Amino acid sequence: MGFPIIRSRRLRGDPNIRRLVRETTLSVDNLICPMFVRPGKGVRKPIEAIPGHFQMSVDVLVEEVRKLAEERIPAVLLFGIPEKKDAIGSDALSNHGIIATALRAIKKASPDILVIADVCFCEYTDHGHCGVIRDGKVDNDATLENLGLQAINFARAGADMIAPSDMMDGRVAKIREGLDQTGFSEIPIMAYSAKYASSYYGPFREAAESAPRFGDRRGYQIDPANSDEALRDSALDIEEGADILMVKPALPYLDVLYRIRHELGYPTAAYSVSGEYSMLKAAVERGWMDEKGVVLETMTSIKRAGADMIITYWAPQLANWLREG
Ligand code: PBG
Ligand code: ZN
Repeated sequence: MGFPIIRSRRLRGDPNIRRLVRETTLSVDNLICPMFVRPGKGVRKPIEAIPGHFQMSVDVLVEEVRKLAEERIPAVLLFGIPEKKDAIGSDALSNHGIIATALRAIKKASPDILVIADVCFCEYTDHGHCGVIRDGKVDNDATLENLGLQAINFARAGADMIAPSDMMDGRVAKIREGLDQTGFSEIPIMAYSAKYASSYYGPFREAAESAPRFGDRRGYQIDPANSDEALRDSALDIEEGADILMVKPALPYLDVLYRIRHELGYPTAAYSVSGEYSMLKAAVERGWMDEKGVVLETMTSIKRAGADMIITYWAPQLANWLREG
């Protein structure tokens, strides 16, 4: 059976029919907004490569998070720029560090929005790598100890969820153990399980002042050419106690996202990273594409590929667009 009995256009012509047969829906419920916090008061420093985003001091951040909570955005993901960086990233281990301070302030002002703390060291180390350096390389096992301590520090300060982005082997198990031993067995772990060594992180590294001072991250992040490896890593994260998996970046890795969501059957987040945002934003600023159209299409494609939730710098505008319908 085929044409003229079958006419696909019958289900396309009417907007209400299109609504009825739509297979993928994007909702404010799916959004997580990344945010950057730095020391000071009244600071709202534009991040040039991520237009519309700012490095904010805690007081400003608290107000912004309050607005996102009013928009019913379920969660924010926090990144910190510390006062001082050092070899091991001590700020992230301190109760008075930038993230610990921000967490306490946000939870006090907006107890209802979920606050996810990124756990890694590249923003806090003077060399810009994600862990402890030994013989010119990031030492996996020495870094694990510190990751456990960082997670506990953030949990004590009020983090609702821990999101390790460092890509050390065994980190999920180490963090799970640390949290469980300190009374935080109910705090979920969102593991950056399929995190690629990507050039799309460029704008973020400006935002977080976290570019590596020597070398690159290919010794610990996944090779963009591989997808079986991402599946194996994600399966290991599940065994170690991950509650939510993540694929990052999103757009250039939709095949990986599809496989992870469908083969492993776990709640899966997609991180639509800074470079994905900036490249579209740049084209939009030149008048080459319509922002709302291209962003809704892009986010829908990420959901269609299997994402349950999307971390995106467009979260605030999306919340508005989705309300407008
Ligand atoms: C740090 C981290 C990075 C991002 C999130 N956490 C960058 C990196 O690995 O260098 C990138 C996010 C983005 O580009 O939006 N581990
Ligand atoms: Zn890092």
